[in-house]
Parts: sequence; C-alpha cells; structure tokens
Amino acid sequence: MTSHKGLRRYRCFLVGLLLLCCLPSQGYAERILLATPHNRLVLQADPGQQLQLLYYGEDIEGVPSFEEESGGRACLPTFGDIDAVLLPALLVQHADGDLNLELRVQDTEYSVQTDYEEAVITLRDKVQPFTLRLFYRAWHNTDIIETWYEITHTEKHPVRLQRYDSGALPFTGEDPHLVHMHGDWAAEAVPTVERLTRGVKCIRNTDGARNAHLDAPEVMIALDGAPQENYGRVIGAALCWSGNFEIRLSTQSALSASGLLTSAYRLFAGIDPQASEYVLAPRQTFTTPHLALSFSPEGMGGISRAFHRWARTDGMLHNGMATRDILLNSWEGIYFDITEERILAMMDDIAAFGGELFVMDDGWFGGKYQRNSDNAALGDWGVDTRKLPRGLKALTDAARERHIKFGIWLEPEATNTTSELYEKHPEWVLQVRGRDIKLGRGGTQLVLDMTNPKVQDFVFNLIDTLLTNNPEIAYIKWDANASIQNYGSLYLPKDKQSNLYVDYHLGLLKTLERIRAKHPEVVIQNCASGGGRANYGLMPYFDEFWVSDNNDPLQRVYIQWGTSYFFPSNAMAQHIGGSPYVMTGRTTPVKFRCDVAMSGRLGMELQPAHMTDEERAQCTTAIHDYKELRELIQLGNLYRLLSPYESAAGPEKQQVASLMYVSDAKDHAVLFAYGLSSFMRQAGHRIRLAGLEPERTYTLTEKNIRHGEQPCALHGRSFTGAYLMSVGLDIPLSTEYNHDYPSRIFELK
Ligand code: GLA
Repeated sequence: MTSHKGLRRYRCFLVGLLLLCCLPSQGYAERILLATPHNRLVLQADPGQQLQLLYYGEDIEGVPSFEEESGGRACLPTFGDIDAVLLPALLVQHADGDLNLELRVQDTEYSVQTDYEEAVITLRDKVQPFTLRLFYRAWHNTDIIETWYEITHTEKHPVRLQRYDSGALPFTGEDPHLVHMHGDWAAEAVPTVERLTRGVKCIRNTDGARNAHLDAPEVMIALDGAPQENYGRVIGAALCWSGNFEIRLSTQSALSASGLLTSAYRLFAGIDPQASEYVLAPRQTFTTPHLALSFSPEGMGGISRAFHRWARTDGMLHNGMATRDILLNSWEGIYFDITEERILAMMDDIAAFGGELFVMDDGWFGGKYQRNSDNAALGDWGVDTRKLPRGLKALTDAARERHIKFGIWLEPEATNTTSELYEKHPEWVLQVRGRDIKLGRGGTQLVLDMTNPKVQDFVFNLIDTLLTNNPEIAYIKWDANASIQNYGSLYLPKDKQSNLYVDYHLGLLKTLERIRAKHPEVVIQNCASGGGRANYGLMPYFDEFWVSDNNDPLQRVYIQWGTSYFFPSNAMAQHIGGSPYVMTGRTTPVKFRCDVAMSGRLGMELQPAHMTDEERAQCTTAIHDYKELRELIQLGNLYRLLSPYESAAGPEKQQVASLMYVSDAKDHAVLFAYGLSSFMRQAGHRIRLAGLEPERTYTLTEKNIRHGEQPCALHGRSFTGAYLMSVGLDIPLSTEYNHDYPSRIFELK
C-alpha cells in the first residue's frame, strides 16, 4: 500500500497551476482525481472552501473540457450553506439549536490500496465543532465508485441528524429517464421507467426490517432519452443499506456557464429520515451507508455488468467468485409437514437427480410449542423430536451417505407470541410500552430488538451453536418475514427512540460480522419472504438471496429480468417449481421450468414424490447440463437481449425473452430463449446476440433438450460472432401444434 497526504497523482497539472495563480487568497488549489478502468471523478478540494464536484462520468483521456465545463457543484449540499436554493443532503440540529451547516475543506488524504484508490476529505463546520470525513473509493477492476461519510462532533450535547443522505450526485443529460425497481411480494423487481420532469421524484421504502419488495434501493438514470439495453449513457446507483431509504431525483432550472437556461439534476440517496432523526452523542461516530455509483456508455447492460463484477470480485457478495451448489429446498414440497422419512426421501431424490445439497425449510424446530403453521415457535430453535426423533445428526449423516450437503432454515430475528422465547424474554421484542402490540405473519409474529446487545448475542449464539454442534451443516437459509410494526425499543433510552430504524440494522450488521468472522465457509442465503432483502447492504454477508417466493416460471422470467439489473447470477436463487403452480394455478412444461431456473443459481422447490417420469428425466438432464454450464452461467458476463417487457405480445408476433452469458475470454457463451405467448401462425423473433468476438467462429450445441425430442436445426452449426451479433438467429420457438411455453438453451464455443 502506498499512501500520501494531500495532492494525488494529478493529470491536469497546468490547469491546477492556473487555478493556483487565480486563487491566491484560498491557499492552494487542490484537485482530486479518482479513476476506475472507465470512470472518472474529479473533485475540487480547496482548503477553507466548499468541496465541489467538477466531473463524474466516462474516463476520457485527452478531453480537458470537463474541467472548465460547468464549474463545480457542491458535493454535499448542506442546509444553511451558500447554495440556499439547493435541497440539502445533510441537515442537522446542533446542540445549541442551530440548524445551519457550512462545511469547509480542512484536509485531504489519498491512498492506493491493492484493489482500490481512496480519497478522504475532512470537512468542518465554520462555527460548530462538527466534522465530517467524506470518502470516495474507486475500484481498480470495476467501474464502481463508492461514497459515504463519517460524522463526529464535540458539541456540548448530542447533535440530531435530521437528514443524512450518503451522497448527492449532480448530473447533466439531454433528457434523463429514471429506471427503478418497483414490485411486491411474489412480484419483485419490475423495472419502472419514467422521464425526469421538474420537481422532485422520491422513491422510498419504509418496511423497517427489509427494503426491496416494494421499492428497491437501486436506480439507473439514462441521461439522454429512454433507457436502452446496450447503448446510451447511464448512471447506476445502489444504496448499500437494508433498512428504510429515500432516493430523490431533483430537477431544477439553472443557468449554464454560457448563460443558457438548462435543467440541473441531482440524485440524493440515503437512509429515510422519517422517524429516524439520529441522536449522535459527542465524540460518537456515525457512518452513513455506502452509495455505489457507476457510469456506462453501454446502456443498462453496462451498468448491470459493472455491479455484477463489483459484487463478485470486490467482496460485495460473500464468496463472490465461487459457484453455488444445486439444491432441493423442502418448502413447497412439504411445507411444515416435516418428518424424518419425508426428509430422507427428498434427499434420495435430489441425489438421484444429480443435485448436491438438500435444504430443510421451516417446520423442523419447536419445544413446548410445535411449528405446524406460521403462528408458533419462532425463537425455539431446538429440534422438534416429535418430527425428527433422531435429531439433526441423523439428517447430516444421511446427507453424507448420499454424497450431498445439508442445509437448514432459520428466522433468527423473529419470534411468535406463542413461543418459549417470548415467554422468557418479552422485553426482547420491539414494542411500545402502553400500546397494543401489533402482530405480523400468522397473527403472532414479532420482531426481536436487534438494537439490544443481548438479542445480538442470542442471534450470534444461535448460529454459532448450531454450526458448532452440527459441523456438517453447509448452508443456512436466513429468513426475515416481518416488517417493523411496533415502533419502540425497551433497550434504547427515551431520548434515542428515533435511532431505532437505524440501530436495528447496525445491530444486525454487527451480528453478521461476528458470524462471518467465525463461520466464513457456511453458505448463507438471504431470504425475506422472497426478495425482500436483495440489497447491497446485506450482500457482503450472504452468498445468495431468494429471488422470490413465486416459482411460476412465466412470472419468474420477469422477476429475474429486473433482479439482474443490479445483482449477479450466482447470487440469484432460482428454483424449478411444481405444475400447476400453487400460487398462480398455471400449468407449464417441465422443460420451461428448468430452462428458466437454469439462468441463475439452479435449485428445485417441489415434492419429487409427485413428479411424473417425464419430469424426473427432464430435471436429471437439466442438472447434468447445468453442471457443464455452471461456471459460465454463474460467473459469466450477462447480456440481456430481448426484454419480456418490450417484446411484442399478440397473435401476430410471439412474445419472447432472451439473455446470454459470455465468458471473460469471449470463447464460451450460453444463450437462453423463452417463448412467452403461443398463437397459431404467429411470427417469431430474430435474436441478435451480444458480447461476442466478431471475428471468432462459434459452434452451437443445444442443451437440456426436451425429453424425447431431437435437438433443433441450429444444433452443431457454426457462425461468426459478427453474424450472430448483427444478423442474429431465428431460434425455433414454434408453438404450432406444439407446446406452450417453448424454450431453448444453446451453448456457444
Ligand atoms: C418465507 C420464505 C419461504 C419459506 C417460508 C417458510 O415465506 O420466503 O421460502 O421459507 O418463509 O415459512
């Protein structure tokens, strides 16, 4: 590691000198430049002055204009500072009641680490002893720049942080469009596109404990018109936080440097300030969540690939470069009806299909109260010996004998009113003295108070003891099925109740840190009634997340499509469900179910005992073929080719979705194509591939061929990358006298 204080490697020496001469009264002019492979961020950090952002965007060498272009804009607008018209990113009430904050540069540091370079700018209020250390971290191998800050003060009494956005990025564009994920339980991640108009657009999530079901904390901004998949300038932003958040896009009129009236845009992202005024004691440090930013001239696909790479290679996803096992999860197969016999039979089945892991879901625990439905026993994490008389040992032994691994479901942060835990520790649940307690799932579920160190210890010990006593448990599904409905903590003092939403998550993160420090190897799935916690706040501690409780393959095409905007495929748990599917009643061919699940981390979620021979044979083929493609699918570069949202639907033209993964060396790729509508005599789609090497010749091999059928005519044929990308392929997804929900997978070598 090399590190030096002050001015960093400075590519624009002359301009700096000029500024130095022009601004003698300001000490010296300091410009900080941070660069990723293709992104650049330039700050003006003159001592005693407001910190300004000069440029953020593509790293274009030899184009100096960015520096003079628009002059700087405040990096972090604060309430009461010179830009009175600006919305503030930071608003605090000082100990003496003063609401103003005029942060000025005090010091800058710059360092280069193995994987990133980092600038830290220390800012201090002109009047109050209030200090902020603002960080910018630019990754060497990924086009991601993270920003966040630490606040400390030595005022006489606590300072109240009324708004504390992690970042506030100004940007310009011809016609910016916002892309954000809006969804619901069992219908996650619907990309919602809208043009930015004057005013403020606000996206929030106030669930308390989770934050990705309704509105997710990631957005893209297409700068110059409607977003395109493979071209156009796009900014991507992810707030790395699992609690309540607020992302605001403000559009105001402004005068450009040349006197033109234009629109000034800014992206604010941070913890939602509602009911979260954070009370910060003197000398205590508050660190905001990181805001991760990426800029791409390659459309939304470019942003997705940057975030995927960052997740995998820069520690944002636990064990990010590892591939994941193929599993069978017991939930939709047997729900709470767990018996040793059923579990062993399911283990036999997944082993016979060629799978590698069996996960026992909800229903295995309980003592005085049994877990036969969702209304009891959360928190009583002993094995229910009425269901599993020989305990977990018999199950891990059985898994070993079948050459598969064993995993288990937990919901560590919750309890039920009907539980021994609640009887023993009623003070451990979030509640408000004197008010009726509001109950969640099953009419009895409560959320534990993760602000309380005793509860944190309880959760840590639960995992630690389970793994220590059962060293062969290789996988944990960590669920979180409740929102924070009782806004009160018996642990937090009266004057810090408004810290609850934030301290809950800080307590959770602290606990996860401890678990990971001791158990780095165990695979942990992040689940929250499906994808309710798919966010970069928790990803560093989890190997994967449950994309959705909805396993209907048709809806999964959409859900997985939107989820892939920010999250990599090896983190996306996708399971082959039953048919007709329990939630939608839809009947779908097993090949379609397999092909849809195979585009991410493949698993199964059904009762194998109810499968037909055809289904069993197809799933065995799917698992066999998936193993050959696993590395490519789970670690390859994603190109979304044809969107299910944009593809035509109707009797004239077939609705199709298609995506592919390409290896870094571009010598290996896999293509998925799904037919989503079926009418007689409808036209198909020509699919143009992406991400290949134009001069190379690729040979197609069809995979997971439909049971009892021959491969299609494209099987074994060769094409140049240029042909595949510009002319494309007619993928046979015919539905005439054929099958509903046709699908194909091709390997390209
Ligand atoms: C949640 C999860 C499901 C399953 C159930 C068990 O809904 O999302 O996958 O684990 O809990 O109760």
